[in-house]
Amino acid sequence: MPPRHFISLLDISSSEFRALINRAIALKQHRNPDYQPLKGQVLGMIFEKSSTRTRVSFEAGMAHFGGHAIFLSPRDTQLGRGEPIEDSAKVISSMVDCLMLRTFKHETVETFAKYSSVPVINGLTDDQHPCQLLADMQTYFEARGDIQGKTVAWIGDGNNMCHSYIHAAAVLDFTLHIASPDGYRPDPNTVAAAGKRIRCFDSALAAAKNADLIVTDVWASMGQEDEQKQRVIAFKDYQVNSEIMAAAHRDALFMHCLPAHRGEEVSADVMDGPQSIVFAEAENRLHSQKALLEFLLCAK
Ligand code: CP
Ligand code: NVA
Repeated sequence: MPPRHFISLLDISSSEFRALINRAIALKQHRNPDYQPLKGQVLGMIFEKSSTRTRVSFEAGMAHFGGHAIFLSPRDTQLGRGEPIEDSAKVISSMVDCLMLRTFKHETVETFAKYSSVPVINGLTDDQHPCQLLADMQTYFEARGDIQGKTVAWIGDGNNMCHSYIHAAAVLDFTLHIASPDGYRPDPNTVAAAGKRIRCFDSALAAAKNADLIVTDVWASMGQEDEQKQRVIAFKDYQVNSEIMAAAHRDALFMHCLPAHRGEEVSADVMDGPQSIVFAEAENRLHSQKALLEFLLCAK
């Protein structure tokens, strides 16, 4: 049987998503050092882009579970010298038990998965960031309970994080308001596939109205550094600040996958204010990915 991969949130059902969240919460609450379900197992991690949270959480998670993680970058492997992805996937997957990739092109992860004999995890591509959504949803569930029927407002770039929020809205059944400037909206096919749960707005303030959770991300993602100046201009009316938070429900929460730029996509008072749960969200990368590794690697 081909291995189970985690390339997109659409790879898991709503009951699997909720089970992963509940398992992540349990693993966080009761850490048992004797529980080492991945003893002797190895995770290969290929990073084409920088990372703090994704790298540390996967490495620490594997160590907690008795396994080991290997950091690989194209710079120091034959991948960077043009060895075909198909060959690399066959070779590396013959030596490790699981593979995590962070790449520019989404197709790179998909091709790796096609030729890998072990589960492949998407650790962020230009198109999606599903692991971050496991953590974000765990964080919301911990703070407020199930997100079904709630309203989330995405304010900012229609980027990889926005696409994974659209997928999460479809799988967990919540309403997603999206406010992005012209030219920076999410992929229309992704929006259309999620149906009526997705509502697009022309202004950040309108999108924030009645929201239970406000989310944003950087204006220029990794690989878009050259566009920073033009993006600062395009996104000037899309900062999450106290005015935006005031338009949402009184007990609305604020999340950001980090790293954040205070004074750009989020004001410092919101980022460091009482409604912000960004550091719980970051910590939950560890717990939710441990739940994911267990789900993919431990036979039921
Ligand atoms: N949020 C996130 O994926 O962070 P890193 O880029 O530090 O891994
Ligand atoms: N959208 C951001 C997320 C970083 C975790 C990027 O791709 O750089």
